[in-house]
Amino acid sequence: MINIFKDQYFIEHYETGFVETGIFLPNDLIEEIKQHYQTVEEGRNDFPKFFVSNEHLAYVEGEEVGDLFVQSPDVATEMVKNLYDMSYSKAVYREQVFLKRVCQHLLDNGFQKFFKTRYLLVGYDMYLRSKHGQMAAGIHSDLPNFHHFYETENDLTLYIPLIDLNEKNGGRLSVLPQKKLKIPSHLFLNLLLDFFSKNSSYLDDAGYINPEKISSELMDEFVQTKSFKDLLVCYKMLTDLAKSQYADDFVRPDERRGKVLLWNNKDFHAADTWNNSEQDREVYIIRLFPLYDVNIKLKSKLHGNLFNNHLFDFETGEIVQFDDPVDVSQLTKQDKLAL
Ligand SMILES: [Fe+2]
Repeated sequence: MINIFKDQYFIEHYETGFVETGIFLPNDLIEEIKQHYQTVEEGRNDFPKFFVSNEHLAYVEGEEVGDLFVQSPDVATEMVKNLYDMSYSKAVYREQVFLKRVCQHLLDNGFQKFFKTRYLLVGYDMYLRSKHGQMAAGIHSDLPNFHHFYETENDLTLYIPLIDLNEKNGGRLSVLPQKKLKIPSHLFLNLLLDFFSKNSSYLDDAGYINPEKISSELMDEFVQTKSFKDLLVCYKMLTDLAKSQYADDFVRPDERRGKVLLWNNKDFHAADTWNNSEQDREVYIIRLFPLYDVNIKLKSKLHGNLFNNHLFDFETGEIVQFDDPVDVSQLTKQDKLAL
């Protein structure tokens, strides 16, 4: 994080788990976002799609759960679907309708000032909606996932509640600051790099690993490597520790409708239950990724749809849109981060 945030904001994130941008979306944009997602069918939940071909991640919940997911993926997928249906009435990924406008609004309001790094990839957006009485998310970290393939401990989330999250309404996000406990998820990208760069058939012309060329069989081989299994054991131990030793150290700020909050979804986090029976909890989210000086190409599609094709350029103050995923090999070395 130290090479991403300017020092003052690095400290704010390290100590509190958040960076408060103080930037609000205009009310008409908030209303437009709400109206757009109102038209998405009730009950649409994209979370279970992430479990397909990632069943091994269930070992972080314990051996029995892991075995169930690996040996009976269909049963497990149904369980995951039911679990998420209990938590969200809608969870909608990658509509990208408001992504550029929100990013432009941020730049127009001085968003550049938070960053040392020149670029941040704008991966995809998501919308979460829950009703009164729906289950809240317990303590967890969003584990790196093969559907994205380019995740590290420095991923950033723009978190924009479309309704106040406070003591009365509930629904507040809480995060365990990195000064208390932190996950070593850079290692994930390093392990991918080590494993897949050995075989030239997965490389593109620029010598970058092309995740879309990797077969599911080879991905399974990677999952079986000792180093990746060790990393999962480490995730499990840290998650257990976060739950057993650090539950009282989570920071839980009140958040106002339309206010843009920055945090890192690799940090341990949880959400409060939603207490408002008159209005639903709605949050609009955009995921940002630092770009590294590593030979890994960005994936072009998330669940079949184009993503990874917007880039924050804080030097020019622009949000740049491409027809394809951002081509990391075209960015100069000094504008990328060392892994
Ligand atoms: Fe999460």
